[in-house]
This record gives sequence, structure tokens and C-alpha cells, in this order.
Amino acid sequence: MEKKVYNGEEGEDHFKYHSTTLIPLLTPYKLGIFQLSHRIVLAPLTRQRSYGNVPQPHATLYYSQRSTRGGLLISEGTVISETGKGCPCTPGIWTREQVEAWKPIVNAVHDKGGIFFCQIWHSGRVSTYDYQPNGEAPISSTDKPLKLQLRAGGIELNAYSPPRRLKAKEIPEVVNDFKVAAMNAIEAGFDGVEIHGAHGYLIDQFLKDRVNDRTDEYGGSLENRCKFALQIVEAVCSAIGPHRVGIKLSPFDTYNDAVDSNPLELGLYMAEALNQNGISYIHMVVPRWEATEDPSDDDDVLLPIRKAFKGCFMVGGGYNRKTGSKVVEENRADLVAYGRSFLANPDLPKRFELNASLNEYNRETFYTDDPVVGYTDYPFLEETA
Ligand SMILES: Cc1cc2nc3c(=O)[nH]c(=O)nc-3n(C[C@H](O)[C@H](O)[C@H](O)COP(=O)(O)O)c2cc1C
Repeated sequence: MEKKVYNGEEGEDHFKYHSTTLIPLLTPYKLGIFQLSHRIVLAPLTRQRSYGNVPQPHATLYYSQRSTRGGLLISEGTVISETGKGCPCTPGIWTREQVEAWKPIVNAVHDKGGIFFCQIWHSGRVSTYDYQPNGEAPISSTDKPLKLQLRAGGIELNAYSPPRRLKAKEIPEVVNDFKVAAMNAIEAGFDGVEIHGAHGYLIDQFLKDRVNDRTDEYGGSLENRCKFALQIVEAVCSAIGPHRVGIKLSPFDTYNDAVDSNPLELGLYMAEALNQNGISYIHMVVPRWEATEDPSDDDDVLLPIRKAFKGCFMVGGGYNRKTGSKVVEENRADLVAYGRSFLANPDLPKRFELNASLNEYNRETFYTDDPVVGYTDYPFLEETA
């Protein structure tokens, strides 16, 4: 039987027809109103090249390099408000200047036929006085400070400042900041937003019971800990429509000290609650940083959550061509997000189609502020041939 195979080319004629077996990653998928031509998603990747928290022209080339017709891209974590900042040169979406600056970047992705979601982000306690308005304490669910984060080799990454526990009456303001950021993202032209509820940032600080030590309606029971996240989802859905909303969650991940005593229960509760909102997708992180040839044990932990959630289930974390295809083929996921390999291979879908070798990523240039090096200078396949 002839099947459609994505060939990575621009233009309308982007499918070629032949009778070889498709790798599951390269099959089309309908994500609500969006018709995807393949399942290889650009994961959200902070690159710290947005000087003054304003997206820069060099991001246009970076995102357009990674765009394909019918391919889904998720932007780097994009800060929702002054208090949301936690590291240098991350883009924001709370000022007019930022919204205007995003427009040409989004247009460039659309010109190539890509579908672009903006990841909206608040760091919470993963921050320092330096990034906060008037040098105030970062806000969180708690006033417990984050432990010092150490890079492998013992190099200090960041000494975070002790946070201030949000008062219950302040929480609606933060929920509203997410809503306004989502509306701004739509105004900038994005197709939707991904709410960043993962990796120990503000939302995760409410979700996880080893962080959230509140005794009010936002703490204690599972239901109470999930309330903040679900209020944000509801506010964002009502503002821009649930079909334009995804959420990234990492119940099993412990990054940034975000530990939960029962991650499966947390993941299941959120999946079932999110079924009520009818959001577009859950993007769930497999707690694994290294690629493995047989990830089934890790993936298994997510399977009950995949089954519980009625919408699209996207996974990410250490996938390669083979394991990403396997997870889709076995119906453990609908979409696979690729971080480091997409960062280093702007033409990743094409390389997967051709089973070509991949450029290696250079960790040293992940977070530098250079507008080119380690950003837009990773070679395309034809340049390496
Ligand atoms: C340089 C870098 C920046 C990242 N920035 C973000 C981010 O802004 N938001 C987010 O949710 N995850 C972020 N992540 C995590 C990735 O989205 C992804 O979950 C992780 O890299 C695992 O996928 P991979 O093994 O395919 O790289 C980042 C990862 C890297 C390497």
C-alpha cells in the first residue's frame, strides 16, 4: 500500500509517495484543529538570548530553521510577569514591546507551515532577588528555600534567594497573569500556549507535596495542591479556547527539588481533572536525561496516565528516532518532544526520515547569549554531506 512520507521539504509538495513502511514518528496526526504532518515536536528550550527579556530578531532564524510544514513547535519558556523571571535573557510576554517582538518570529514559523505554541512560565522560587522587582523575594507556594543546585562536577549553578509564600488572596492575580500572557501570545500570532507546570517552577511548587507546605485551600490534600494549576488552566481556556491550550507536567521528575510522595496519583488526578477542560494536550516528561535504547520501563510509569487522559498525550525526555517511533507505535504516546537533539539538528524530521546521523549538541552553548554560536549555526544535512 502506498503511504505518505514526509520529506522535510518546504512548499505544498512536501510529501513524497512510495511504498516503504513509514516510521510511526512520520505519520500525520490531528491535534484538534491542527493537522500535523508528523509527530516530532520541538520541545521548549530556554536559550537565554532575549536581551532585556525581549525576543530578538535572531530568534526568527532559530525557530524558522526548526519549522516544517505541519510540524509543531513549542517556544522556550516565556515569562508571564515581572515576578516570573528566574534567569538572564529569557523572553517575556507581558509587555507590548515583547508582544510586538514575538510577531515576526511567529510569522516566520507560519511562513514555513509550522504550528507554534508559546510556553508560558513563572519561575516561582527558582529565582533570586536580582531578577525580582525592587529586589524583593521570589514568590512561591512556600517560604522554604530551594537547595543549592549543583551541576555535575560540583560547580555551583545558582544560589536561589529564600522565597515568600503567596497569600491566598494574591493567588488570583497570578492566575490572571497567566491568562493575560496567554491572550498576549494569541495576539502575537501564536497558535496556542503550553502552560509550564513542570520541572519545579511555580505551578509545580504548588503540585508537589514535598514543596507545598500550605495549610490553606491551596495546600494539604491532593485536590487543594492541584487547585492553582487547574484555576490557571480554566482561566486560560476561557480566554483563548481549550483547543489552544496544552500543559507540561513532570510528576515523576525531581528537578529543582520538586518531589512528590505519590507522583502517579498526582499525574492521574491532573489527567482526570484536565479531561473536564478538554484541553488540547498533556506534555509529560519521562524522568530520564539520558537516551536509552530500551526505555519501556521508564515509559511504563506514564502509561496509566496516558490511558486516563482523553486528549493528546505528548512525551519527552531522552527519546531518539528508534525509541520515539516505538512509543508511538505502541500507542503509549501520540507525539514525542525532542529537546537536545532538535536544538542541535534544525532538520531533525528530515534526518529521522532518512535515518541520517545527527549533529551532537554542545552543552557549553545552551545558555550563552551569542546570537549565532550554538544557536543558528548547527549544520543542516546537506551542509554536512
Ligand atoms: C537547553 C535546555 C533548555 C530547556 N528549557 C526548557 C524550558 O524552557 N521549558 C521546559 O519545559 N523545559 C525545558 N527544557 C527541558 C526540555 O524541554 C526537555 O524536557 C528535556 O531536554 C528532555 O528532552 P531531551 O532528552 O529530548 O533533550 C530544557 C532543556 C534543555 C536541554
